[in-house]
Amino acid sequence: MNLSVQLAPKNKHGLLLANPVITASGTFGYGTEYSHMFDIQKLGAIVCKGTTLEPRDGNPQPRLAETSCGLLNSIGLQNIGVKALIKEKAPIWASWRVPVIVNIAGETIADYAQLAGELDGVAGISAIEVNISCPNVKAGGTEFGTNPESAAEVTVAVKTATSLPVLVKLTPNTSDIAKIARAVAEAGADAISLINTLKGIAIDIARRRPLLGNVTGGLSGPAIKPVALYMVYEVAGAVDVPVIGCGGITTANDAIEFIMAGASAIQVGTASFTNPRAPLDVLEGIEQFMKQEGIDNLTDLIGVARR
Ligand SMILES: Cc1cc2nc3c(=O)[nH]c(=O)nc-3n(C[C@H](O)[C@H](O)[C@H](O)COP(=O)(O)O)c2cc1C
Repeated sequence: MNLSVQLAPKNKHGLLLANPVITASGTFGYGTEYSHMFDIQKLGAIVCKGTTLEPRDGNPQPRLAETSCGLLNSIGLQNIGVKALIKEKAPIWASWRVPVIVNIAGETIADYAQLAGELDGVAGISAIEVNISCPNVKAGGTEFGTNPESAAEVTVAVKTATSLPVLVKLTPNTSDIAKIARAVAEAGADAISLINTLKGIAIDIARRRPLLGNVTGGLSGPAIKPVALYMVYEVAGAVDVPVIGCGGITTANDAIEFIMAGASAIQVGTASFTNPRAPLDVLEGIEQFMKQEGIDNLTDLIGVARR
């Protein structure tokens, strides 16, 4: 069986994955944290925590709240900063078989360009995922992802600063996601990933105050799956670059739904918090499904629900 997928067909380096299962940013650390739990080299790719120019402590606690079938988080891009990432993490990744994609976030377009420039040519980094969709930061974040013009401007700035494949990650907190997707595809994105979290809040009724230190957070997990699937379906019909589906994927069946809706690959996020082996379980379940159904090439499944 052939599960490989090419996520950056127009890029000179390409982004060839052995299989379509990727870990979602912010839910799998730098990959190293999970390497003692299972053979992470079997995965299609790993996306690391959102990375900024300077290290960040993130938002005040509490930053996590469980909801029905989901999780609200307001981490606020706590990370070690790009310099430490290049010095401490990339050399480890360079010895891995599994490609690592670095998720980046900035407060200005110039920040995104500088981050992309600093990561260009660093051994151990296979691609960049541009987060224009973080709901938990004051500046930047969804500001760029909710407006087609600024989404396109960020994409052009990043593409100009790096020759690495560039994935742009979209927010669901917008009225017309297909419009944003078309704008970033036209601006040169090699692939589009979606969705990031949906904005939400929780109230602590004993304190009569919002539960999260940041008041608002981002909702993830099974609760958002139908919304994510719908948006992937919409975007896959709107652009001709590969689409990477994300949002509530917990089982192989979830992943197969996204692939049939038009995703070339999928990301497993919150599911890793309850089952650290979830990405591998999803991969093994996809393989089993293909065997049962007599499907030799994963690419034969991409978008079948659209025809
Ligand atoms: C605790 C936490 C931290 C996250 N951090 C990031 C981040 O740094 N960058 C990013 O693009 N997305 C981040 N996300 C969003 C996820 O990558 C993913 O898009 C979202 O959670 C939906 O997928 P899921 O339902 O499978 O978790 C984070 C999500 C969670 C739960």
